[in-house]
Amino acid sequence: MPEWFVPASTESRGPLARRPEAVGSRAAIGSAKCAPRPRRTIAPNMRHLLGLQLLPATDLRELLSRTQRAKAGPAASDPLASRPLAGRLVANLFFEDSTRTRNSFTAAAYALGAQVIDLLGSSSSVNKGETLIDTARNVEAMGVAAMCVRAKQSGSAAMIAKGSGCPVINAGDGKHEHPTQGLLDLFTIAESFDRLGSFDLSGLRVGIVGDVASSRVARSAIAGLLTLGATVTVVGPPGLVPGGLASAASHDLDEVLPTLDAVMMLRIQFERHSDAPPPQGAAVSRGSSIASVREFRSFYALTAEREARMKPHAIIMHPGPINRGIELDADVADGPRSVILRQVSNGVFARTAALAWCCEAH
Ligand code: CP
Repeated sequence: MPEWFVPASTESRGPLARRPEAVGSRAAIGSAKCAPRPRRTIAPNMRHLLGLQLLPATDLRELLSRTQRAKAGPAASDPLASRPLAGRLVANLFFEDSTRTRNSFTAAAYALGAQVIDLLGSSSSVNKGETLIDTARNVEAMGVAAMCVRAKQSGSAAMIAKGSGCPVINAGDGKHEHPTQGLLDLFTIAESFDRLGSFDLSGLRVGIVGDVASSRVARSAIAGLLTLGATVTVVGPPGLVPGGLASAASHDLDEVLPTLDAVMMLRIQFERHSDAPPPQGAAVSRGSSIASVREFRSFYALTAEREARMKPHAIIMHPGPINRGIELDADVADGPRSVILRQVSNGVFARTAALAWCCEAH
């Protein structure tokens, strides 16, 4: 039995400690046959992070402020410096592919002193018919401090959180929300325009360009940007820009681009347009909302020529993965305006802040 699986005594683990019987102790594990089953304890004051749309402005600013402290390196007096999840387990439950989010949650958990359980949907018992909720409840029964959940079904993180006795962080659920991506995006904008500390983004105009309809990144970003006072315009072809997103909409990138301070490019999420993948050699999938990739590119790609018409200080963002040569040219993605890899770095700090915030007693 690895040493880290066995929790330290509650006395030595401070305010984050859960009751030992809820986590499992060496004695309880060793005598599983006759010991009573561990009780699921619902922490009365735990926090989930399921989205930015309903998150109060004070909580959003607190999370951004913690992201800033995590990036600066916490002061000795900061709770982050004491590795508040030392001796605890954090579970990544990823039922959908990920490079950035899953690995940065892992890095964040390590930064907080935790060990990580990494469950991938592709190799889990979901493939034998187990539900997401049963899967989550089984992982929770192993004594985890928090679960970071990604799934293709919108609302899945909230569904798991409903019956959960530990904090759940939405790591991206279908077309709904991706709140920690929203945090890192907001933080990167604030950092780029010298708004750290206040996190007041008023006076800044942000364009979100491309497949907005399929984008959980856009939904979280719009909610957070509006809370912090920015102006948001979503841009794309009619089939990819839905109404009702609480932001202005345009179908003309060339008109909007010179007015923007930050441009967030989105990939076309073909996997969310249709159940069927694009047939071999086809321009788009059968259920796609655009006529052709070539046409999309001619109107909405951020090319070097378009980049030249941006404001001198404007930044270029992308949540990744990038489809180079479709929504974004390689030279632009790697150019001096691009903050794309800075977004990725900031993702570790945003997730460190989110995990600590969700797990701490309050
Ligand atoms: N931005 C983002 O969610 O990337 P991954 O799918 O690689 O996690």
